[in-house]
Amino acid sequence: MGLLDGKKAIVMGVGNQRSIAWGIATAFQREGAELAFSYATERLRENVEKLVVTLPGHETMPILPCDVTKQEEIDAFFATIGERWGSADILVHSMAFAAVEDLRGRFHEISRDGLKLAIDVSAFSLIAITRAALPLFERARGAELQLHGHGEGRSRGGDALPGGRPRTFEHPGECHLGRSVEDARRERGEGDLGRA
Ligand SMILES: NC(=O)c1ccc[n+]([C@@H]2O[C@H](COP(=O)([O-])OP(=O)(O)OC[C@H]3O[C@@H](n4cnc5c(N)ncnc54)[C@H](O)[C@@H]3O)[C@@H](O)[C@H]2O)c1
Repeated sequence: MGLLDGKKAIVMGVGNQRSIAWGIATAFQREGAELAFSYATERLRENVEKLVVTLPGHETMPILPCDVTKQEEIDAFFATIGERWGSADILVHSMAFAAVEDLRGRFHEISRDGLKLAIDVSAFSLIAITRAALPLFERARGAELQLHGHGEGRSRGGDALPGGRPRTFEHPGECHLGRSVEDARRERGEGDLGRA
């Protein structure tokens, strides 16, 4: 009997076999979860497919494009998951990006557009995918797993997260398993998470 028997987990952020998301996916499967995967670009599609075919039951696993800088891809991704699964229990956000030139350069040389892109992919996308996933969560007891990797070693979840209030994490790379949507709703009285 696995900890996640019967749970459906959407894993976003597998790029290669060293990706944290891949470790999460294999651990989730070991615990009995069904899995769905996204890939950011066509170039990465093959990487993800090659990994996924190594998993038992891979034939039925959705592997779909989702560049999180593009709202239409987010909408299409979750619409397809909705059609195939009906609901989802777990959403893993394990995505980040910064342009090489911004990483290599000196701090004061970071471009405005480069920083905007890094924040869009690495931070805002959590809000965007949570919003898109919410209808799927609401049909199940959903939770959210977000990875943080802030150099200062401390980060805060936002008010709009399903948990409903900021949370502080003490260690870089700490994983946070959010409370279920139902828990958050109960705490809010009526909890209209659709407008959170
Ligand atoms: N590696 C570490 O030491 C470490 C430590 C703490 C936190 N983290 C965090 O863990 C997460 C995963 O990091 P990782 O080490 O597995 O690196 P990784 O490069 O394997 O994963 C990052 C993923 O983000 C995806 N991505 C980039 N741009 C995207 C876009 N526009 N749309 C969709 N996906 C996009 C990439 O395809 C890749 O799969 C990141 O959020 C990172 O900040 C990593």
